[in-house]
Amino acid sequence: MPRLVAPDARFHGSFIDSHSEWAGAMQDGTGLHDAADDILPADGFARWVDSLNAQEHTPRTPGHVTCTYRWIVEDDTYLGAISFRHDLTDYLENFGGHIGYGVRPSARRRGLANWALGQTIELARERAYPRVLVCCVDGNEASARTIVGQGGVLDDMRTDSRGVVFRRYWIPVTPA
Ligand SMILES: CC(C)(COP(=O)(O)OP(=O)(O)OC[C@H]1O[C@@H](n2cnc3c(N)ncnc32)[C@H](O)[C@@H]1OP(=O)(O)O)[C@@H](O)C(=O)NCCC(=O)NCCS
Repeated sequence: MPRLVAPDARFHGSFIDSHSEWAGAMQDGTGLHDAADDILPADGFARWVDSLNAQEHTPRTPGHVTCTYRWIVEDDTYLGAISFRHDLTDYLENFGGHIGYGVRPSARRRGLANWALGQTIELARERAYPRVLVCCVDGNEASARTIVGQGGVLDDMRTDSRGVVFRRYWIPVTPA
């Protein structure tokens, strides 16, 4: 059974295995591209984990928003990550959205992204959000299906300064 847990240094070995599976690709939902530490050594990994958990209450830097990071795990194995950004900056409103996620290649097509997005919508419900914005690059069929599977309704498509086209979906969050 998968579980959604706060980032925890005890998943170091498993996270590193996953890291090699990604083979340099952007690991959406992890916040890894912002990491100040080298995550390969255990002490750097532990510092990074602490910084992720701290962002629940304190933005990483001025101009960033607070963010809840959760990891998808099964027993002691790291399978993926999902992040819930509490507010929308200009960039997030146009291209990034509230929620980002990624599942390690060996764990894909098992329904994990769909499940984790549903769980994260529950976090939004607890915080009384009326709706959440979830975006994906046009052509990312797996992500688009994940969003639609959780009730996402396409709002529009917007092109960023690099010419990348993003599909923007709102997912309604009904009160509990
Ligand atoms: C997108 C991603 C998170 C999907 O994870 P996953 O756990 O494999 O997804 P699920 O098994 O929950 O499947 C969700 C939906 O996507 C579909 N899907 C999954 N992989 C697919 C693929 N390669 N091609 C087409 N559809 C795919 C599934 O059939 C399912 O749709 P359905 O419910 O209509 O049948 C995963 O492919 C990934 O990490 N990709 C790289 C990072 C990324 O793109 N993140 C999203 C950024 S917006």
